[in-house]
Amino acid sequence: MTHKLLVIGSRGLLGQACLASAIAHEWEGVGVDVGEIDITDAASVEAVIAREQPSAVINCAAYTDVEGAETPDGRAIADRVNGEGPGIVAHACLRHKSAFIHLSTDYIFNGTSESGAEEADVPSEPMNAYGATKRAGEIAVTNVAGGLIGSHFQCVEPQICLVRTSWLFGASAKNFVSKVADRARAEGTVSVVTDEIGCPTYVRDLAECLIWMLEAESRSGIYHVVGLGSCSRFEFADAVLKGLGIPATVTPTTLDAFPRKAKIAHVSVLKNTKLPKLRTWQEMVQGYCEEVGRERSGF
Ligand SMILES: NC(=O)c1ccc[n+]([C@@H]2O[C@H](COP(=O)([O-])OP(=O)(O)OC[C@H]3O[C@@H](n4cnc5c(N)ncnc54)[C@H](OP(=O)(O)O)[C@@H]3O)[C@@H](O)[C@H]2O)c1
Repeated sequence: MTHKLLVIGSRGLLGQACLASAIAHEWEGVGVDVGEIDITDAASVEAVIAREQPSAVINCAAYTDVEGAETPDGRAIADRVNGEGPGIVAHACLRHKSAFIHLSTDYIFNGTSESGAEEADVPSEPMNAYGATKRAGEIAVTNVAGGLIGSHFQCVEPQICLVRTSWLFGASAKNFVSKVADRARAEGTVSVVTDEIGCPTYVRDLAECLIWMLEAESRSGIYHVVGLGSCSRFEFADAVLKGLGIPATVTPTTLDAFPRKAKIAHVSVLKNTKLPKLRTWQEMVQGYCEEVGRERSGF
């Protein structure tokens, strides 16, 4: 049987990688984004899923502007897209018996220990508005999936999974890594914080894992999928610039040097205790640099 994957938010950083992975695994892949679907509108979601009849749906659509979510207008959009949209998509998948993977974030935790938050840990109050709206979306999906037993959902059919990830990077869209590289190339120096620790995750590795989860029919529930190991933003930026061969100075700084509306945890680490581990974040950086090198040389 041919598998058919519908990727919602297919023009975003992760959405593009999911479509590419699906096609590489000989799935039929269909992508939709703003203009073709609105996940806050049940009729729009129903129309797309009824038309496509996908065997699986990955929802990468989100309002991802962390600073914007702190403003009244941004918060209102984030409440709908991140808080309500995921439940609407989950309902439609349940009706059409499509497997469903929804993406969430480490920001639903209010910071973690260095050893990291596990899938079964119950989040306390998220640290910022974006995290609060993503947590609302998690709760909506959990309710459609019949509630939790530990870190698994009650729902058996169709497969419904909630995948938390963090610090996504890739070559296809703007992200922390591309901004650091652009600034380093333009100015020869870049200041990066040493007191923010997290788990960098290359979208290609995450997308491969999501397709694997669908093919393996992983049990419905919550999963943490991140690069193995953790580091500071400073170490991350330094590794990327070295890997790309950009001769720039990385200057250490701290979070309090960058006043911002959204509160950011000093340590936000996700621990994967349920799935095969992905490769280390350093190997992912190497993979990313190779991808960028191939694109630049036209291969
Ligand atoms: N990026 C990270 O570091 C990170 C970390 C942890 C978790 N995540 C999660 O991973 C997922 C993918 O993130 P990403 O970085 O790939 O996001 P992204 O690049 O911002 O892509 C999200 C896509 O969703 C679209 N979208 C927004 N509102 C929509 C709506 N109402 N209906 C349909 N599509 C809509 C966006 O369109 P517009 O651009 O036109 O708004 C965009 O194309 C999200 O759930 C995010 O919360 C991301």
